[in-house]
Amino acid sequence: MGFKIEMIERNVGLLIVLTLLTVSVGGLLEIVPLFFQHSTTEPVEGVKPYTPVRLVGRDVYIREGCYLCHSQMIRPFRSETERYGHYSVAGEFVYDHPFQWGSKRTGPDIARVGGRYSDQWHKVHLLNPRDVVPESNMPAFTWLDRPAVSSDIELKMKALRKVGVPYTDAEIAGAKAELEGKTELDCVVAYLQGLGTVITDKR
Ligand code: HEC
Repeated sequence: MGFKIEMIERNVGLLIVLTLLTVSVGGLLEIVPLFFQHSTTEPVEGVKPYTPVRLVGRDVYIREGCYLCHSQMIRPFRSETERYGHYSVAGEFVYDHPFQWGSKRTGPDIARVGGRYSDQWHKVHLLNPRDVVPESNMPAFTWLDRPAVSSDIELKMKALRKVGVPYTDAEIAGAKAELEGKTELDCVVAYLQGLGTVITDKR
């Protein structure tokens, strides 16, 4: 008696085990190589860890839920690259813990918004979007014009260092001074102005 496919189909336990095995092997073959592929784990040339000011801005971005309306991931489709610029690549996000790719686009993708507007435009826009984009339905973040919190910046940088961001002792020691006199607004704007600027699409 040779092998019959019915032997598997009629034995639910065996069918489950073999299905799980097939799916796991297939999944592992797709996923595991990505961990070892340099383009997914190494920073793109020019990508640097966030400065203390941009790091605080990034945390304000997360705190205010900007990611609920803005993605930071340009897909490799013509409709996206025509509008936003070069598609996003993994090596741009190696220092993002956690990354802010998102998926909801109530507003536009902002993966490459850096340099598109002036600092002043961003400040006005964040305090009241309608002042520069009359039809905008983005909320006004009126409270951002207040001093940035710097008391925990060293701890934040040390925590990031533990997960692989190469901050030096000197950078951590100098962080508080860099935040002196900065508002949360300054920090968010600095964060935005650096987004996606390493890969530029000069078409
Ligand atoms: C409720 C959804 C919503 C939230 C929350 C939101 N935005 Fe927006 N955002 C929009 C919309 C819609 C636009 C397009 C209209 C405009 O420019 O105001 C926009 C536009 C922008 C732009 C201009 C992008 C471009 O390419 O023109 C930036 C920058 C921006 N938002 C940053 C932020 C930041 C930073 C936060 C958090 C502090 C935030 N947004 C929160 C909806 C939102």
